[in-house]
Amino acid sequence: MQRRGLLVGNWKMNGLIESAQELVAAVRAGVEEREERRLVPEVVICPPFTALYPVHQWLSGSSVKLGAQNLSAGPPGPLTGEVNGILLRNVGCRYVILGHSERRQRFGESDSLVAAKVTAAIRDNLVPIVCMGEEASERDEGRTLEILDRQLRAVLEWEGLRGQLCSKKRCLVVAYEPIWAIGTGRSASVEQVSEVHGFIRRMLTEFVGRELADKIRIVYGGSVRPDNAEGLFAAKDVDGGLVGGASLNGQDFLAILDAFGRG
Ligand code: PGA
Repeated sequence: MQRRGLLVGNWKMNGLIESAQELVAAVRAGVEEREERRLVPEVVICPPFTALYPVHQWLSGSSVKLGAQNLSAGPPGPLTGEVNGILLRNVGCRYVILGHSERRQRFGESDSLVAAKVTAAIRDNLVPIVCMGEEASERDEGRTLEILDRQLRAVLEWEGLRGQLCSKKRCLVVAYEPIWAIGTGRSASVEQVSEVHGFIRRMLTEFVGRELADKIRIVYGGSVRPDNAEGLFAAKDVDGGLVGGASLNGQDFLAILDAFGRG
């Protein structure tokens, strides 16, 4: 089954309006130029909340899509400081990153909170990009697949969620992001990524059946750079990348996009 490649830029807590405009213009132009020559993977930019609406406007008419980095699972109402999926859709978001390790570790997001957020995202017509991955000590102890099993199972076993992973148009996306590789410059090896992605695909197959599991994209994140993207994207069951640091540089991000074609 041929899944369309997916490249997601996670700007994290970066993106002042002036620099964001330049970066978006560069990415947009680079994607358009490539589209004239070939089929490019789907590209999604995830700026901080404050830049979502201007980025949406700068992307108007472009195939590049907009995503947020988090959401609140609650309905509209008195929740000071929170932003739910309805508000995100209203400023043009199509995707939302959920369960990033920085949120799990620094803001105490549990497996069940992540599953509740995934449910809320789907309800509000957003495609969730659900992040999961092990810490260095867990890998050293040989517990990587056990951790992935727990994190993925929490989503797949959440009430009613299993039947909603794919809409007519789109399926949820799973991002494997080993915590020790995020922002460290030390990416996981192709063998490590292949093993985990294969495991995730088998688990998805077990829970939702082959046909649906084959539609779900599994992307890798953790120090993806222009010089290692090609090898990673060529690996079996790797459908693309979730890129942090390198997505803040237009040239690097586009060089990573080019790695798909060669993979
Ligand atoms: P990185 O971040 O590319 O800077 O390692 C990836 C991520 O956290 O999504």
